Amino acid sequence: MSQKEYRFAYEEFNSVEELDVEDAELLSRAQEVTADAYAPYSHFRVGAAARLANGAIVTGTNQENGSFPAGICAERTLLSAAASLFPGVGVEELAVSYYNENGPSDRPISPCGICRQSLREAEQRAGKPIRLILGGKGGKIYIIPEAGQLLPLAFTGDELK
Ligand code: THU
Repeated sequence: MSQKEYRFAYEEFNSVEELDVEDAELLSRAQEVTADAYAPYSHFRVGAAARLANGAIVTGTNQENGSFPAGICAERTLLSAAASLFPGVGVEELAVSYYNENGPSDRPISPCGICRQSLREAEQRAGKPIRLILGGKGGKIYIIPEAGQLLPLAFTGDELK
């Protein structure tokens, strides 16, 4: 038996004022598009904005459905839009924000497990890391250098071969 340990490093910022201008702009775009979320069931509006390797900015929001499992998160809406509009172009940075109509919105958002899986595979497809900028309407911001770090021991398509 050997003992294994998994660690990763990320940055915590106290406010948007501490961010680089480009990161602050991307997070601000993510905040803006929360207005376009369709969240009549959860009232939890999520916005995502990404900068691609070609410089394009692509956004996504959560789109819910009366058949709840048919809903899709903002991050995966964005990844699908980016892959459709700019096939083969990787995502470099992806900012996520939210507005919770039911309560406070100042804790950095944390992508769900399915989105972690999708983000990890998007990194694999592009062959480079996706830097995550995670915030809320205000409050602290986390920057995660590589989205796949949020999914240790991930299931990958390699196991299917
Ligand atoms: N949601 C996202 O869009 N992204 C996340 O990172 C967390 C959750 C959405 C899914 C659902 O529409 C609502 O937020 C509540 O879970």
